[in-house]
Amino acid sequence: MLNQTFSFVDYYKNTVELSFVPNAFSKNPKHVWIICQFNNKWLLTCHEERGFEFPGGKVEEGETADQAAVREVYEETGGIIKKILKLGQYKVTAKHEIVIKDVYYAQIDRLEKREHYFETKGPTLFNDLPENIRENKQFSFLMKDGVLTHCLDIIKKKELSF
Ligand code: GTP
Repeated sequence: MLNQTFSFVDYYKNTVELSFVPNAFSKNPKHVWIICQFNNKWLLTCHEERGFEFPGGKVEEGETADQAAVREVYEETGGIIKKILKLGQYKVTAKHEIVIKDVYYAQIDRLEKREHYFETKGPTLFNDLPENIRENKQFSFLMKDGVLTHCLDIIKKKELSF
């Protein structure tokens, strides 16, 4: 099951391929996305334009994807990671570019208050994610495709080994 590639279209009708095989599309992905939990709640950030989403962003020059994941969580939520696990990788074929992202699951130890949360309004905790997330205008398009649903299925099975 886990070595299959899932393929679907996203909110913008771009094709997305998702694999739970490490580095399935690239050894050096340029983007990361981190599904975070803190005290059994989901930890999201509120992007100023896109709305609520799990933190993430671009891998900087000289940085590994793992390091970028830790940095992005801290910058966008103030979250200090206790445990982090790379779940897989996905590839978005957009009109003018191809975006390859490593997707992680992280458990957060504590939240530090920050002066700035970069392009976001900072952390928001959710007991549950809404059922209608794909139609909900408060949520970012990043939350509206099969990447989130497939990853949540894995996380909820609680068979992850860190
Ligand atoms: P900046 O360079 O940071 O301003 O970003 P950008 O808007 O150019 O976006 P980026 O290079 O990160 O991504 C380009 C396009 O790929 C976006 O406009 C989206 O359509 C798509 N994309 C990026 N990340 C994701 C993602 O996680 N999921 C989905 N479905 N699409 C994404």
